[in-house]
Amino acid sequence: MELQEVMKGSDRDAVVVREFFNGWSLYRRIVDNDYLYHRSVREFFSRWLDAFGRPFSFLDLGCGDADFSSGILRGRPLQSYTGIDLSPVALDLARQNTALLGVPCNLIAGDFMTSLGGLVGTYDIIYIGLSLHHLQRREKEFFFGELRGKLAPGGVLLIFDPVLTPGESRESYMGRWVDHAQWAWRALTVEEISGAVEHVTTSDYPEEIATLNHMAIGASFKPAEILFTDRTDFYALMAFDGV
Ligand SMILES: C[S@@+](CC[C@H](N)C(=O)[O-])C[C@H]1O[C@@H](n2cnc3c(N)ncnc32)[C@H](O)[C@@H]1O
Repeated sequence: MELQEVMKGSDRDAVVVREFFNGWSLYRRIVDNDYLYHRSVREFFSRWLDAFGRPFSFLDLGCGDADFSSGILRGRPLQSYTGIDLSPVALDLARQNTALLGVPCNLIAGDFMTSLGGLVGTYDIIYIGLSLHHLQRREKEFFFGELRGKLAPGGVLLIFDPVLTPGESRESYMGRWVDHAQWAWRALTVEEISGAVEHVTTSDYPEEIATLNHMAIGASFKPAEILFTDRTDFYALMAFDGV
């Protein structure tokens, strides 16, 4: 299937997603309070990178302000960093955060669905942090194929994303996610929680890990190695090797 065809059949609204993330300070507060488990993901990701054990190029899709990635990458045998994000506000911050990495950095403003094909070369590590779920199912299916084409021999795709529990519907996931945020996100105001709930319930399309595995296998990846799942069963960090 061609990219144009996949995009035509999608009712995803990238402008709405971009506008939410242009209000970066709310997302920053959510991360700083560790409501999305970045601290644990950082620990498991870092352990995994220790074992990777060789110099690597890094492609960061939905990089946001690159604070999380640059924190993990600092001091490692990184050869180059490329980040793509929809939000110019986030990318301005990413420019500052990646400047400290001391390697060639390329930051691209745009939709990774349409920008990925234009990248020259391949990457040892491709990371998608909390952004794959913004694509709809057919887009994700197509995107796995695109990602495989951008992976260097011996490279690995890492995905940190919300995931449905086995057999769970999107509606059921959203119900328990909203209950959890309203109960547990105590550092945020009622208005801030409403903003986050509005974003997640209208723009997020999580999948089961089994569905992601199915897409991955169809694109010549191996099934995921699960590196981390959080205690509330909302998120997973997964590593997909190429076949
Ligand atoms: C939840 S934030 C995650 C940021 C960072 N990766 C992290 O883990 O903290 C999602 C980011 O993905 C970006 N994003 C969402 N859909 C995208 C798309 N189709 N193309 C490029 N960026 C996208 C948003 O602008 C936002 O910065």
